[in-house]
Amino acid sequence: MSRPLALLILLLGSLPSVAVMAAESAPATPQLGALDVAQPDGWDKEVALQPAPDLNPDPNILEVNIEAKIADVEIKPGMIVKAWTYNGLLPGPYLKAKVGDRLIVHFKNSLPEATTIHWHGVRVPNNMDGTPNMSQAPVEPGGEFLYDFILRDAGTYWYHPHMDSPAQVGWGLYAPIVVEDPGDPKEFGDDLVLMISDMSIDDKGVLQPKDNGGAFGDLFGREGSILLVNGKVMPRLKVRSGKQQRWRIINAARSRYWSFAMRNNMFTRIGGDNGLMERSEKLPRLTITPAERLDVVYTPALAPGSVSTLRWLPVDRGYGTAYARNSEDIMTIETVADTPVKPAVIPEKLREIKPIDLSKVVEHTLELTIKLERGIVEMGINGIPYWQAKPLVAHIGEKHIWTLVNNSPFDHPFHLHGYFFQVQDDKRIPEWKDTVNVPVNSKVRIAIDFDERPGMWMYHCHILDHAEVGMMGHLHVEPAE
Ligand code: C2O
Ligand code: CU
Repeated sequence: MSRPLALLILLLGSLPSVAVMAAESAPATPQLGALDVAQPDGWDKEVALQPAPDLNPDPNILEVNIEAKIADVEIKPGMIVKAWTYNGLLPGPYLKAKVGDRLIVHFKNSLPEATTIHWHGVRVPNNMDGTPNMSQAPVEPGGEFLYDFILRDAGTYWYHPHMDSPAQVGWGLYAPIVVEDPGDPKEFGDDLVLMISDMSIDDKGVLQPKDNGGAFGDLFGREGSILLVNGKVMPRLKVRSGKQQRWRIINAARSRYWSFAMRNNMFTRIGGDNGLMERSEKLPRLTITPAERLDVVYTPALAPGSVSTLRWLPVDRGYGTAYARNSEDIMTIETVADTPVKPAVIPEKLREIKPIDLSKVVEHTLELTIKLERGIVEMGINGIPYWQAKPLVAHIGEKHIWTLVNNSPFDHPFHLHGYFFQVQDDKRIPEWKDTVNVPVNSKVRIAIDFDERPGMWMYHCHILDHAEVGMMGHLHVEPAE
């Protein structure tokens, strides 16, 4: 007997008999590859997001109407909530375009409050950034605004208001924007946007007031009690064993960090905030802070005919947060009975990320600070809330290193408008980002190239309750000196 065969028999002999039986009855190696078959019928029926109708016949222009309005949305069968929505949808209309396309949005505000749209992560001209009284005037109730810009970078982005944002985003104003690179390998699988969030409602299904929980709400960051995947409680996704899907995950929650895992599963992360990263990586568990994005290939590996779940797992994001809630199922994964297919091979090398030239840099330290005085929470950057702060000044052509310091009792996901940055950390696979977690008692260094587009930009913690009580600042990018 050959040595490998003897080894195999030895190995089988040591397994419990059920496993041996399963091994005997399992089909031989799959005949078809992942690229030879389609997703199961109606695979994304319960989760697919509705695109906005394109009003423009030019294939390189996506032109849409977006109206912010209060509307009834059904978050689970029989459960209807009056949410704040774009076009009556939760999440709002899915904008999907190719890299280099022009996006034109005729925006109308039919809400009872002023609002704006911020295109999170998109490198827009300064006057399209949606920051009120800086890049544009607030859009008053009944008012309109025209957004018009080029989508220069492939990646997964999202849009949301930049006024009273803990309430407006928390009540449902968020939606995805995907800029595709037609050159991406087919091996990544079919696209599925998973926009995750949460919502606080009372027993009558009424959204909770913006300031529920008082100072503690500000301090901890308000987390909604109902977990939503694409605006639904526990939707069902159908998969076929071995047939890959490309999940573009966007965390639209105002404060909640999300971590995911699935029994017997590894995810292959291929990108994040601003397109593909340099190399792919295999991860058993994914963690995503508010406003971050994850681009992952999911390879279904469970037995045909089985039903499993994707689980939300608690994340320790500082003082007392890890024990606030037990893990919870958020999506049903039904593996259809069809025979498994052979998964496609995901390349390791994905893209070249050229490091920003740091031979001559301007350095700044930004400490994310929390003050608690007489029951009032005031947050800031270097101890100063945004309404008192002077803008940080940069000049076109400068490269900066910002050291983000967190000695406060909570993690803070730091977001910069207008520019991508590179996190300086040898342990991370290089990628472009616009939002990065700064954990408790740590320092995170980011490199930024102020190469173009002068104007007044912002940076802030994307726990929106933290931003609102002060953890936000302005950045004035001025022409070269
Ligand atoms: Cu998504 Cu200023 O934020
Ligand atoms: Cu924060």
